[in-house]
Amino acid sequence: TYVVNDSCIRCKFMDCVEVCPVDCFYEGENMLVIHPDECIDCGVCEPECPVEAIKPDTDPGLEKWLSLNAEYAKVWPNITAKKEPPADHKEWEGVEGKEQYFSP
Ligand code: SF4
Ligand code: F3S
Repeated sequence: TYVVNDSCIRCKFMDCVEVCPVDCFYEGENMLVIHPDECIDCGVCEPECPVEAIKPDTDPGLEKWLSLNAEYAKVWPNITAKKEPPADHKEWEGVEGKEQYFSP
């Protein structure tokens, strides 16, 4: 499966949802997650994200984010079309340590 990590937080470009063939993105207040049981590992979303927030779960160090994606994909609503990103999303591009801003 592919995983969304903290690079997405407060950037939330949503280009990823436009390309997913199985619509397995779920929307939180300031980031999206991927449902690990629904993702078919096609990989097309990975290059679509402008801030490289999407990675295969085979990459090192993603255990925490895989758990978070699995947990919140069960409770957040499905999203299948791009919306307007947050007004200040540009300011959060490439900012380190955005985990503290995660909004459940
Ligand atoms: Fe969707 Fe493919 Fe990305 Fe999985 S890898 S979330 S199936 S676009
Ligand atoms: Fe987030 Fe990137 Fe999608 S910023 S909403 S994972 S395009």
